[in-house]
Amino acid sequence: MKVLLIGSGGREHALAWKIAQSPLLDELYAAPGNPGIADHATLVALDVEDHAAVIAFAREKTIDFVVVGPEAPLVAGLADDLRAAGIATFGPSKAAAQLEGSKGFTKDLCARYDIPTGAYQRFKTAEPAKQYVREQGAPIVIKADGLAAGKGVTVAMSKAEALAAIDDCFDGAFGAAGAEVVVEAFLDGEEASFFCLSDGKTALALATAQDHKRVGDGDTGPNTGGMGAYSPAPVMTPAMVERTMKEIIEPTISGMAKDGNPFSGVFFAGLMITAKGPELIEYNVRFGDPECQVLMMRLKSDLLPILYATATGTLDKVEAEWRDDAALTVVLASKGYPGAYDKNTPIAHIPDASEEAKVFHAGTALKDGRLVATGGRVLNVTAFGKNVTEAQARAYALADKVEWENGFCRRDIGWQAVAREKV
Ligand code: AMP
Ligand code: GLY
Repeated sequence: MKVLLIGSGGREHALAWKIAQSPLLDELYAAPGNPGIADHATLVALDVEDHAAVIAFAREKTIDFVVVGPEAPLVAGLADDLRAAGIATFGPSKAAAQLEGSKGFTKDLCARYDIPTGAYQRFKTAEPAKQYVREQGAPIVIKADGLAAGKGVTVAMSKAEALAAIDDCFDGAFGAAGAEVVVEAFLDGEEASFFCLSDGKTALALATAQDHKRVGDGDTGPNTGGMGAYSPAPVMTPAMVERTMKEIIEPTISGMAKDGNPFSGVFFAGLMITAKGPELIEYNVRFGDPECQVLMMRLKSDLLPILYATATGTLDKVEAEWRDDAALTVVLASKGYPGAYDKNTPIAHIPDASEEAKVFHAGTALKDGRLVATGGRVLNVTAFGKNVTEAQARAYALADKVEWENGFCRRDIGWQAVAREKV
C-alpha cells in the first residue's frame, strides 16, 4: 500500500513510526512532515490547504490511502475532497468534523440523543450570555464555539471571571471562533481521554489516556496544547469504558448517521468522570497530541489495516491488541511557551531510541544541515514501563540526555498515577 500522511507534529511522527512497521506498506510519504518523520517517510513540501495540489500529488504517486493527522484540514474538508477524487482517506468529513469545529454543534447533538454532558446554552451576543451566567452562578464554563487551539475555554470560579470571559470572546480574543459562545455547567470529577474508531456504523474502542494541559509542575500556570500524557488512564476502568461506549460513543455514532453526517475516523472524547458516571466535555476528531504518542507505543497490532478498515467501512473485521505496559510521554518545549519563545534554537543532541524509550519530533526543522527547534512543543520523550512510575523514570532519564539549551519540560508528568501506584 502507498500511503500519504498529512501533518508535521509529534502525533504524526508517532503515526509514521507505527505505519512504517506495517508489512502492508510499500511506500510512505508525509506532507509536510518533520525531520523525525523523515526517518520513516519521504517528505513532500505540499501546501495541505491546497486540496487540488494534494489530490494531484496522490494521483501522480498512485497513493492508495491518505491519513490526515490534524483537525484543521479535516474541518476544511480535505477528507471530503480526497474521497470525492476516489482516494481512501482516514479522517471525518467536514460536516462530521463539526464535532470538534463547533462546541455548540456537539452540545446540540448531546441534547438530541440524550448523551450525558453539562447543561448549556448557546449565545450570539454578550448580554443574554451574561444574564444566563448571573442566573446560573459560578463555577461555570465559558467556551468560544469554534477552533481556538485549545485556548477558547475559561473555567470561571467566579461570576466576574465568567462575565469577563464572555466579553473577551465577543471582543475577538479568539477571532471568528468566539463569534458564538457556549456557556456550560461546571462538571466536577476526574478527567480522562478516550479514543475510539468509527467507520460510520461500527465502533472499535482503542485506549485511554490522561494529559497535563497546564505548563507548570503541579498543574499550574496557563493552558497549553499538552505538556505530557500517559496511558492507560487509571480512572477508566473496564466498567467505565463500557459505560462510555454505551452512553456516549454509540449514541454519537447512530445520531451522526441519523442526522446525515456519518462519522468515519477517530473520536477523541474528553470525559469528566463525575459521581454520576462519564460525561462528555468535548470531542476532537483526530488523535490527541501528545496522547497519540503513548497510544502508538502501546499498540501491539499493525496500525495500517486498522486505519484502512476505519476509512473503508470494514472496522468490524479488525481488532486492536494493546501492551499491558503503561506508556508516558514528556513534552520538551521552547522556553517561554505557551507565550512567546525564540525560534530556530539549536538542538545539539537527541539520544537514540532503545527498546523502552523513544524521542518523537514535534516542532523541529533542519536549517543548513543542523537540527533546530521551530515550535512551542518540540520533542516528545516517550517510554514504556510495567507501570506509570517506571515509564516516568525511563522517560525522564532519556529526556535528560537531550542537549537543547532553550528547552524545558515539566518534571511531574504522571504524578497522579504515580501517587496512586505508591498506595
Ligand atoms: P476543552 O477545550 O473543551 O477540552 O476544555 C479545556 C479544559 O477545560 C478541559 O480539559 C477541562 O479541564 C476544562 N473544562 C471544559 N469544560 C468543562 C466543564 N464543563 N466543567 C469543568 N471543566 C471543564
Ligand atoms: N493534547 C490535547 C489535544 O491534542 O487536543
